[in-house]
Amino acid sequence: MVVEHTFTATADTDPAGGVEAAPIVVASNRGPVSYRLHEDGSLAAGRGGGGLVSGLSAIGPDAGAVWVCAALTEGDRRAVAHAGRRLDTGDTGGHRVRMLDIPPATFAAAYNGVANSVLWFVHHMLWQTPLEPVFDRDFRAQWAEYEAYNTAFADAIAEEAAEGASVLVQDYHLTLVPGLLRARRPDLRIGHFSHTPWAPPDYYRLLPDDIAEQVLRGMLGGDRAAFLTRRWAEAFAACCASVLGGRGAKVVREDGVATAVRFEGRTTRLGVHALGADAAFLRERAHRPDVEEWMTTLRRQFGPDRRVLLRVDRTELSKNIVRGLHAYRRLLEDHPEWREQVVHVAFAYPSRQDLKVYRDYTAEVERVAQEINTAFGTEGWQPVSLHVKDDFARSLAAYRLADVALVNPIRDGMNLVAKEVPVVSDHGCALVLSREAGAAAELGDDAITVNPYDVEATARALHAALLMDPGERAERSKRLASAATALPPARWFVEQLRALEAR
Ligand code: G6P
Repeated sequence: MVVEHTFTATADTDPAGGVEAAPIVVASNRGPVSYRLHEDGSLAAGRGGGGLVSGLSAIGPDAGAVWVCAALTEGDRRAVAHAGRRLDTGDTGGHRVRMLDIPPATFAAAYNGVANSVLWFVHHMLWQTPLEPVFDRDFRAQWAEYEAYNTAFADAIAEEAAEGASVLVQDYHLTLVPGLLRARRPDLRIGHFSHTPWAPPDYYRLLPDDIAEQVLRGMLGGDRAAFLTRRWAEAFAACCASVLGGRGAKVVREDGVATAVRFEGRTTRLGVHALGADAAFLRERAHRPDVEEWMTTLRRQFGPDRRVLLRVDRTELSKNIVRGLHAYRRLLEDHPEWREQVVHVAFAYPSRQDLKVYRDYTAEVERVAQEINTAFGTEGWQPVSLHVKDDFARSLAAYRLADVALVNPIRDGMNLVAKEVPVVSDHGCALVLSREAGAAAELGDDAITVNPYDVEATARALHAALLMDPGERAERSKRLASAATALPPARWFVEQLRALEAR
């Protein structure tokens, strides 16, 4: 979802001409705005969506929050060069944004080299371990850049935050920030939120010992470390015990549940905030004319009477798109009665294409989809309809008309698609859901859950989902929608803030 604005170059300053210190600071790699550089040298600001953007909107501009993020594109760097300390609020949807122009080589090593190729891989358990990972001298050089990138964030936050401010640091890109910031500003309340899963100790310890320790020490510099589900919070606590137990770290448990980690005289409380879908926004957006038009187009493309089996993801290794296609092929082999009767619609939007492994994965998704179409397709029926271009209105149209949604990640922090589909669905949609998605904790009862590696079981689950009685499907969807919207982004954000203030 992107809204375009023309570029203006004034900084966000107070009437006295200075820049006000902020009582709330949010820090994340990707900010709420990105700039595109046109050929004529002009810049266009596009605004992003997502839980953080709507969460932050909930506290309103009067709260005086500042969002610190990194410049990701050449357009972003130009915009930062034009602006003063903060971007123009006309570009950012009203948010006060400090965008950091981190040197491109440092950014690339920290983002692609460490965050996306090492930390993302460890928490999603993505390595093919006979050959990888290899932690060599190149990795050490990249790690030094990751430290520099985290230091740039800590310095900027220390500069932006008012005395006693609350700071909400997001995700695996910024694991060292809480500790670095604590050293600079002991007065601050610091929380870290992980949007990913957390690795179990044996897998986490694939990291070099000193790096495994440094990441945990960084996070334990905060007052709180929060996660999307209890399972990830427990994994974090288990890693602290495993890696830092010998140095005196203690996990505090209440009624068997890990609630805090004590280490070197400090206590970091553990929190769980299960980000939910934004029902009001989704339902309104899903009934605008562009979505209605897409529904007509898609219905025509797929055939009016065919069942729609839908998946919507970034083309992301952890999303398990290839095994999903294999399961669909298995379904067509085992149940020829579904041939010509069902279309597998796969929206797989490009992601992290700077990394070869993602480009190769995208190519494999396309190859397997093509193979299925060649093997089973007929003159009037294309079994797989794969789209690789992002279009939010089209995704919503597909959410509304899908009969079955397949969400089968290898491992996923939450998975918001699983939560959005039941909210938007017109007639109810059966959900086939990986038990390794964080969302399974809340949606498992009314979804058909699967082991994501088991292609045979996934094929059977697809069959059961296609056969589900429409009445039951609608009932389950209603319950799924209510579980999915239990903690909408605005409350998710405010809950974290309150918990941090109650330290
Ligand atoms: C995950 C991460 C987010 C990230 C998103 C998109 O959901 O938890 O922090 O923003 O993926 O990834 P990207 O690398 O494109 O920002």
